[in-house]
Amino acid sequence: MAKDSFNWLIYKIHDSELQKAIKKYFKGHLLDIGCGIKPYKDLTKDFVQKHTGIDHSGTMHSKKEIDVFSDAYKIPFKENSFDSVLCTCVIEHLEEPQTALNEAFRLLKPGGIAIYTAPFIWHIHEEPRDFYRYSKYGFEYLSKKSGFEVVELIALSGFWVTFAQLLCYNLARFNRSIIRISRIMNVVYFIIQRTAYLLEKIDKTEKWTWCYLAVLKKPELK
Ligand SMILES: C[S@@+](CC[C@H](N)C(=O)[O-])C[C@H]1O[C@@H](n2cnc3c(N)ncnc32)[C@H](O)[C@@H]1O
Repeated sequence: MAKDSFNWLIYKIHDSELQKAIKKYFKGHLLDIGCGIKPYKDLTKDFVQKHTGIDHSGTMHSKKEIDVFSDAYKIPFKENSFDSVLCTCVIEHLEEPQTALNEAFRLLKPGGIAIYTAPFIWHIHEEPRDFYRYSKYGFEYLSKKSGFEVVELIALSGFWVTFAQLLCYNLARFNRSIIRISRIMNVVYFIIQRTAYLLEKIDKTEKWTWCYLAVLKKPELK
């Protein structure tokens, strides 16, 4: 995703919840799976000593920030190498999510923490590599099957924010080529997102979330 006037609201919510989780749980050597342009480098830098980003060679994003080219299924590091794992908005793009979760589990040290974000109600993007959406029950099931404990599983929005963002994305689809009305549309996007933000303060129906944030722990050795 790229930040724009039509989608600032999901970034505001996603990044502020992510910041809280990073502050609370991250340390040591961080593995960023499907790192893209490493948009969370600044958010993590005060909490981790090293930030290693992996992404596949066919990525459609800039490759500048990628430290190691690898897919998410067989990452070339020894088991128990990392204290923290970050995987934001990647798991929907993986054909084999269970294999990818198993690999993250293998690479984390016992007691290590992985933070994932995974969409539930969202349009197709980065196609054709867009395979799944996750309910909290589905994501919890896959995580536990890999051996993780689920520490937190947070719905990032309710109906209003999800609806407002889908509406803005769809309006932006029409607006892209019509430069003359784009300034007016920025005001329209602002009003829609601001209204949704306020409505959600009084009514957050989590069943309609656009995305979940999950904090997973590899259990300590007994
Ligand atoms: C929506 S972007 C998210 C990028 C970044 N994590 C972020 O939050 O902005 C999805 C990322 O998943 C990566 N990706 C897709 N398939 C992958 C695979 N099989 N292995 C590793 N990364 C993959 C893409 O290259 C892309 O960087």
